[in-house]
Amino acid sequence: MRSSGPGPIETGAEVASSRHAFPRVEGEIRCGGFRLSELAKRFGTPLYVYDVRHLELRFREFEEAFRPLDLLVAYSVKANGNLALLSRLHRLGSGADIVSLGELFRARAAGIPAERIVFAGVGKTRMEMVAALQEGLYGLNVESAGELHLLDEVARELDVRAPVAIRVNPDVLPATPHEYTRTGHAHSKFGVPIDEALELYRWAGTRSSLLVRGIDVHIGSQIVDPEPYSEALSAVLAVVDRLQGEGISLEYIDLGGGYGVKYDGEEEFPLKAFAEAVVAALKGRKLRLVLEPGRYLVGEAGVMLTQVLYVKRSGGKVFVISDGSMTELLRPSHYGGYHLIERVVEDESAPMELVDIVGPVCESGDFLARDRLIRLPQPGDFLAVRTAGAYGFTMASNYNARPRPAEVLVDGEEVVLGRHREKLEDLIRGEVPQDGVPGSLTAPLGGTSSPKRD
Ligand code: LLP
Repeated sequence: MRSSGPGPIETGAEVASSRHAFPRVEGEIRCGGFRLSELAKRFGTPLYVYDVRHLELRFREFEEAFRPLDLLVAYSVKANGNLALLSRLHRLGSGADIVSLGELFRARAAGIPAERIVFAGVGKTRMEMVAALQEGLYGLNVESAGELHLLDEVARELDVRAPVAIRVNPDVLPATPHEYTRTGHAHSKFGVPIDEALELYRWAGTRSSLLVRGIDVHIGSQIVDPEPYSEALSAVLAVVDRLQGEGISLEYIDLGGGYGVKYDGEEEFPLKAFAEAVVAALKGRKLRLVLEPGRYLVGEAGVMLTQVLYVKRSGGKVFVISDGSMTELLRPSHYGGYHLIERVVEDESAPMELVDIVGPVCESGDFLARDRLIRLPQPGDFLAVRTAGAYGFTMASNYNARPRPAEVLVDGEEVVLGRHREKLEDLIRGEVPQDGVPGSLTAPLGGTSSPKRD
C-alpha cells in the first residue's frame, strides 16, 4: 500500500452511480438521503457511517455471481462486527466466518444460525471448542495436528461429533499490498502443508468423534488478481480427489476471503470472471462452496468522518490535524494503507497543497495520509475517509484514553445509531481503583460524560 509519494488529486468530481457509495452531489458527499455534514453535526466526529443499501447491493452481487452453486456466504466478522450491520447481513441470508469466542457471540447475537458459521484461527482454546460444539457450528477449520487432537478429545468429552475441515496451506503468494495480509505461503503460521493435511484427514477418518466435513484455504486479503485463487483451488481439488480415492468424501470446500476492493484508482477483484472459473471448476462435483468475504462486502460501504482541528505549518510541511487518528483507523499507520480522503463539502477556491493528515495521538506514526495533494481544508471542515467500512472500527483502540467513535447506519432516508460513542466511564470499565472511590471530573462535560454527542 502506498505510504508516501503524492496521492491522487482530490477532484471533487461528481460520483453518482448507484454502484458507488457516498456520491458527491452538488458539491457535498452524501449517503442515502443525508448530507455527510449533517450526520457529522448530529452524531459528532470521528464517526463511522455505513450505507446499508450499498452493503445489500454487494451481498446480492456476490451471491448472484455464484448462483449455479450451492453457496454459503460466511461473512468474515472481523472486517466489521457491528451488531446492527451483522443483523442486516443475517437478514440477507449471510452466514459468518469467525475467529474467536467473541465473534461467535457477536454472530449469534445478530441471529446468524450456528449451522451457517465456520470457525477459523490457529489458536482455538478448549473453551472456544466447547462453545463451538455446543452451538453446533457448520465447521471448524482446523489449522494444526495439535488442534485436531484436542478437538477430538473435547468432542469425546461432550459426546458429540465435531465437524472438521482442515485448513491447507497451498504455498501460494498473492500480491497483496502488505506482507502482513498474505497467509497462504509456506512460511506463514496459517494452515497445514498439503502432505500433512492428508495424514490428518486419514487420522480424522478413523475417529468416531470427528466428522470429516470439508477443506479450507485462505490465502490473504485485498487480493485483486484471481490467479493465486485458481492455484489454491487446484491444490484443494487435488486433495479432495485424493481423499475420495481413499474413501473419504468431503461435503464442502471453503475458499476463504480476501477479494479486494478499490481504495484508489486500482482494480477491484474481478468477481464475475472469478466466479465463472470457480463454477466451471466445480461443475459435476457434489461440493458445497463456502466463501468468506469481508472487505468486499463492507469496505466501500463505510466512511469515517473526521473534523479538522488545526492546520499547522512546520519544517516545510503542512499538517492537517484532525480529530480522527490511528486509534479510530489503524490501517494507514499499521499497513501503510491508502484511503482516499476528501473534504465533505468541496471548496474549489481553496489552494491545492501537499499535506499530511494526522490525528491527536502522541505517536509520529499517527497519520491518516502522508504527502497528499488536496484542497487545503480549514479548521472546522469535515473530511471523509473513504473505504473505511472494513477493518476500520474493528481495529480501533482506546490508546491515549480515546473513547471509540459512534457508528451509524444509513438506509435510504433513515439513519440509525449502530453504536453509541464511548463515554469516559467506558474507558475505566472493569478497572479496579486501589484507593477507595474513584474520582471524577470536577465539571462533567456539558452535564454528560460523553465527549461528543452519541
Ligand atoms: N477468512 C479468513 C480465514 C481470514 O483470515 C480473513 C481475513 C477473511 C476470511 C476475510 O478477508 P477479507 O475478505 O476481508 O479480505 N486488517 C487487514 C486485513 C486482515 C485480514 C485478516 N483475515 C487490513 O486492514 O487490510
